Amino acid sequence: MKISLPKGTKDILPGEMIKWNYIENAFSNVCKNAGYGEIRFPVFEYTDLFNRGVGDSTDIVQKEMYTFEDKSGRSLTLRPEGTAGVVRSYIEKGMSSLPQPVKLFYMITAYRYENVQKGRYREFNQFGAEIFGAKSPYADIEVISILSNFYSALGIRNLALEINSIGCRVCRPAYNIKLKEYYKDKIKGMCADCKKRYETNPLRLLDCKNENCIAISADAPFITDNLCGECATHFSGFKNGLDKMNIDYTVNKGIVRGLDYYTKTVFEFVSENVGTQGTICGGGRYDGLVESLGGKDVPGIGFSMGVERLLMELESRGIILGKPERPEIYFVTVGEKAYAYARNLSCALRKAGIFTEMDLLGRSVKAQMKDANRKNTIYTVVMGDDEISQNKAVIKIMDTGEKKDVSLDSIFKRITEKKV
Ligand code: HAM
Repeated sequence: MKISLPKGTKDILPGEMIKWNYIENAFSNVCKNAGYGEIRFPVFEYTDLFNRGVGDSTDIVQKEMYTFEDKSGRSLTLRPEGTAGVVRSYIEKGMSSLPQPVKLFYMITAYRYENVQKGRYREFNQFGAEIFGAKSPYADIEVISILSNFYSALGIRNLALEINSIGCRVCRPAYNIKLKEYYKDKIKGMCADCKKRYETNPLRLLDCKNENCIAISADAPFITDNLCGECATHFSGFKNGLDKMNIDYTVNKGIVRGLDYYTKTVFEFVSENVGTQGTICGGGRYDGLVESLGGKDVPGIGFSMGVERLLMELESRGIILGKPERPEIYFVTVGEKAYAYARNLSCALRKAGIFTEMDLLGRSVKAQMKDANRKNTIYTVVMGDDEISQNKAVIKIMDTGEKKDVSLDSIFKRITEKKV
């Protein structure tokens, strides 16, 4: 029986990898230019990290995690996102003793058992960055400016940025009381999840995707209107910074984000082109997370973007990135001696970093020429056993059709020194 891909996963074939490599390079360059170091961390972690990090009351922890026991009975979970793993590493590797802020970026796969649809997969990729140890809105502004640099490096202009502030442990308790008061008589008519949220984390009532619940929440009080002095000052500092950088945004008081760790600033880059959810990138500040996972009281802020959604956005804007590489030289051979000579020469050229092709299927000269054309080769060298004995070869410049007589033993130098 044929075995197919698990639902919600995909293969990325070489043709498509050109785009992936392009955006990976662009993201890595933008981050490195701003002083971020790359971090890699495990695909699976102890389940507790996500229960406590992402939050027990989130959809991710309640419904979407790939959790399993290993052969020793430990509960492990495939990472549903990157922040919790980075924070675990920050604490475990003692990064709070390094000069702060510590700035990290990552390019990872993540796993969520979600309803698969346009822009929503079970294995997906995220590019993300996190800053630890910087409390001021300068850090919030920096993560947005990195994203803005990255989007412009890809030719994406005017991606809509929505921002909000969701308060902190000082202002949220009073706001939660207000929220519960608002929902007190309405909660009966809301979905089963919301009934739980009402008890465990009322802020999440505002994030329900059920249409009836959305309608009920329409007149709920916004946290943005109930911030403490520190959060309000932070939020205006953030907005002023964006204004000074001429970065457009709208304040969307409805953004509360789907993860529990956020405090103060939250933001999303959204687009209609990427499916029902519309969010290409989401992030925010998480000032209590490091401490709640056993570290020091260190503030944090970051973002992750869905790479598949980013690619959808690029496609709908008609932006094409990266070109297939052209083989520099293709050896078209007839006869055993010529084949052996070309095999050695191509090996030496490849070692010298030259993209070199030759036939592996014992094809005719005509078929080899066709293959060289199809691959958009820059130069071909046709050689038979006679040419080998006379130390002669003809190099053809494929773009112009021009041919040059050369000695066989000059080919390596000509190609590597780019003096054909
Ligand atoms: P998130 O909003 O859960 O935030 O995910 C970030 C991005 O990952 C989303 O905006 C979306 O583009 C992409 N994404 C999420 N789920 C899927 C899916 N099932 N299929 C395809 N793409 C998806 C976080 O993950 C936080 N860790 C962001 C963060 C970093 N906050 C602070 N630092």
